[in-house]
Amino acid sequence: MSIDTATAQRGTRRNAAVEIEDLRVQFRAGKETVYAVNGVTLSVAQGETLGIVGESGCGKSTAGFAMMRLLPEKITLISGRIIVAGNEIQGLPEAKLAGMRGRDIAMIYQDPMTSLNPVLRIGEQIVETLLAHKKMTRAAARSRASELLELVGIPDPEMRLDSYPHEISGGMRQRVMIAMAVALEPKVLIADEPTTALDVTTQAQILQVLKTLSGKTGTALVMITHDLGVVAGTTSRVAVMYAGHVIEHAMTETLFAEPRHPYTVGLMRAVPRIGSEDEELVPISGSPPDQREMPVFCPFAPRCRWRVASCWNEVPPLVAHGEHEVACFNPVLSKEAEVGVPLRDGFGVPPPSRDTKAFRSAIAFEPSGLQNTIVGG
Ligand SMILES: Nc1ncnc2c1ncn2[C@@H]1O[C@H](COP(=O)(O)OP(=O)(O)OP(=O)(O)O)[C@@H](O)[C@H]1O
Ligand code: SF4
Ligand SMILES: [Mg+2]
Repeated sequence: MSIDTATAQRGTRRNAAVEIEDLRVQFRAGKETVYAVNGVTLSVAQGETLGIVGESGCGKSTAGFAMMRLLPEKITLISGRIIVAGNEIQGLPEAKLAGMRGRDIAMIYQDPMTSLNPVLRIGEQIVETLLAHKKMTRAAARSRASELLELVGIPDPEMRLDSYPHEISGGMRQRVMIAMAVALEPKVLIADEPTTALDVTTQAQILQVLKTLSGKTGTALVMITHDLGVVAGTTSRVAVMYAGHVIEHAMTETLFAEPRHPYTVGLMRAVPRIGSEDEELVPISGSPPDQREMPVFCPFAPRCRWRVASCWNEVPPLVAHGEHEVACFNPVLSKEAEVGVPLRDGFGVPPPSRDTKAFRSAIAFEPSGLQNTIVGG
């Protein structure tokens, strides 16, 4: 079974506000190709919050930009289907899509300056967004803009409406951007690392704003983050991404209680957990793969203690075990997840010495000490 067929069933959820089906995105970088997203299928229902979590470079933002159809056309090859509020967006004229952005789908960008116009006052930017989509007077739009700034915790919102983006701090700009993204109560909101520039108190406040919005207006929220704490606190379902693939997908509670993919187990053991203060934190050794290679084996294999010979032969498909989906030929057992190492013998099979670029780089990316892992290794 290929990843495409294994995951296709998830594209047919009822009430989906957004669905992506076998999304593949490649960037041309000079003579090279970057395989940024490699066959992702996901859907988010109205009022639901999906977390997308994974290391830097695994394709989270690219998937978000694809849903907005905001990838640079000249250098991007994209395939698969993306359906937003019932519209397949790939073939839509730009004018129709421009009308959908903000109202049907909005994004809080990782870099706040990309969506704020530096030469326009903050108030004007929010007011123009409101007037472009809603029938209201300019005075009503200004009053709504002030309410939105208050909602995201900006002190003295009336005064702040007259500030330019460069006159406020980075954290404040991030909040303004969130206010703009939620202004039209979009059907789908993609929040790409929405709270990274914020202190912990403000972070909690912003996450609450997003959760309330989702509960009140039925907005489908896609929460892109590195932070497992954010995932645990705000999402109902999680897709873990690695090297452009979804490698594990489950209800949030299930994922935290019973992670099955070695990478997910590694992620969880790399961050502190409440109640496990004495537990040693273990970073995942090695680095993510070079995404300029077409994946031909499990992308996590060079870093994986659970690997077996078949891991080097093909990319593992995402297989459903009930609602829990895992792309792994040798999933982690519960007890192994607790201790963080395989408790069965014979894993850690090294890369075969096939003389192709992909295998040469797998060997180069492999940290020492992963071969022939044994009990407790
Ligand atoms: N415009 C582009 N041109 C070429 N390569 C790109 C472009 N945008 C992204 N990439 C590459 O695509 C891959 C996925 O990038 P992406 O920004 O989606 O990752 P991410 O998961 O959002 O990472 P981060 O957590 O650091 O934000 C990376 O290898 C990145 O270098
Ligand atoms: S056991 Fe194999 S398939 Fe599973 S993550 Fe490790 S290398 Fe990949
Ligand atoms: Mg990103």
